[in-house]
Amino acid sequence: MSTFFVSCPIHFEERLAEELNSFWFEMMDLDGQPTREPLPELNIEPGGVEFKCSDHLGYQINLFSKLALRVLVRIHKFPARFYDQFEKELWQMPLDKWLTEKNISLKIETGKSRLNHERNLIEAATKALGSLAFKVSDEAKQQLYIRIIKDNAVISLDTAGENLHRRGYALFRGEAPLRENLAALMAQQLFKSGANLESDVFLDPFVGSGTILFEIASFKTPNLNRKYSWLEFKNKPKIFNSESWKKNLRWIQKPQNIRLIGIDSDEKAIHNLQENEKHFREIFPEIGFQLSTLNRDSLGLTSSDFPENVWIVANPPYGIRLKQDAVPKVFKHLENQRPLAGAIILHPESMKIEFQSLSLSSQIDFSNQGLKIKLSVFTR
Ligand SMILES: C[S@@+](CC[C@H](N)C(=O)[O-])C[C@H]1O[C@@H](n2cnc3c(N)ncnc32)[C@H](O)[C@@H]1O
Repeated sequence: MSTFFVSCPIHFEERLAEELNSFWFEMMDLDGQPTREPLPELNIEPGGVEFKCSDHLGYQINLFSKLALRVLVRIHKFPARFYDQFEKELWQMPLDKWLTEKNISLKIETGKSRLNHERNLIEAATKALGSLAFKVSDEAKQQLYIRIIKDNAVISLDTAGENLHRRGYALFRGEAPLRENLAALMAQQLFKSGANLESDVFLDPFVGSGTILFEIASFKTPNLNRKYSWLEFKNKPKIFNSESWKKNLRWIQKPQNIRLIGIDSDEKAIHNLQENEKHFREIFPEIGFQLSTLNRDSLGLTSSDFPENVWIVANPPYGIRLKQDAVPKVFKHLENQRPLAGAIILHPESMKIEFQSLSLSSQIDFSNQGLKIKLSVFTR
C-alpha cells in the first residue's frame, strides 16, 4: 500500500474522481484477475486526488486515466523549517526501493513556508541525493517532486514519465490544438449525457488535428503502448515483468464499429488528422473505428454528408478575425440539414450557442490559458 496523488488540471478534480470510480474495477490484481480491492476513499485537493491503495493499482492508473496529468507516489513527509534539517530528512528517502538508475530530476514547489528559496532547496536536495549516490540532472527520466507547503515537505516520485496527456498519437498539430485531457473531459461528459460509443455517430465540424474524435474513440481503452516510469521501477510487481501482462486485461471491452466524421476547411488540418489517425491505429490497434474526413467549409455541408442523429462535438475557432456569429451559424446550418442527437461544445463564454431542437443540459465553467471557457452539452 502507498499513498498516491493523481494530478490533473485545476477544476478537473471532481471529474477525475468520477473517472477513477468508473475504471477502478477494470484494473488488474496480482493474480491477473480484475481487482477486488475496493475503491479507496478519495481526497480531493486542488490540482488532484489523493488516496491510499496497493502499488499495482496505483501504477495502473497511468494506463487508464485520460484526465490525469501524472500519478505520483508519496515517499516521504516531514516538517521542514531549516535547510540542514530538510537535507537530513531527505537522506531517509528509500529511493533504492524504486529506482535502478542513479539519475534523477527535481521539481520543487513551495508556498507559505520558511523554506522558499528555490536555489537553496535545490542545493540541499542535490547534496542529500548525492549522499544517496544519485545525480541530479534535468534530462533524467525519473522525477522527484518536492513540495513544501506551510512548512511541511511532501516528497513524491513520478510514476508516469512523460505527461499522461501525451498519448503518443498527436504528432501532427495545427493551430490551437486542444489538450488531449481537455478533449477527454468532453468525451466523459458526452457519455454521461447518454451518447453511445458504438451506436452513435460523432461529427466534429471544426476537426483540426482530430483530438476530440480520437479521445472519444479511446476514452474507455487503456493506453498500453507508451512508456511509463513505473515500468522501470525495481519494485514493479512481477506480473508486469513480461509483455504478456497486457493480454491479461482480457475483460476490457474492445469497442468496434465506432463512426467518426471530421470536417475542416483547411487542407493542412485534414492532412494532420489523417497522419494522426495512422499513429492512433498503431497505439490503439484494438479499437475498431471508421473515420470519414471532408476538406470543406462546414457551412456547405448538406444532408447527404452525414446521417441523422449525429452528435456534434466541437472546439470551434475563436478570435478577433472571426465574425461573432460565424460559429453559431454553422451549428444552426447543421441542425437545419438533419435532426441531431445532441451536441457538446467547448467555447468561450462570450460565444453564445443555441439550437432549436436541443436544449442546454449541462455546463462546466473553467478557464483555459486565461480565457473563460464553457463546456456546454445540449440534448433533446
Ligand atoms: C480550434 S481549431 C480545432 C482544433 C481541434 N480541436 C484540435 O484539437 O486540433 C478550429 C478548426 O476549425 C477550422 N475551421 C474554421 N472555420 C471552419 C469552417 N467554417 N468549416 C470547417 N472548418 C473550419 C480551422 O481550420 C481549424 O482547424
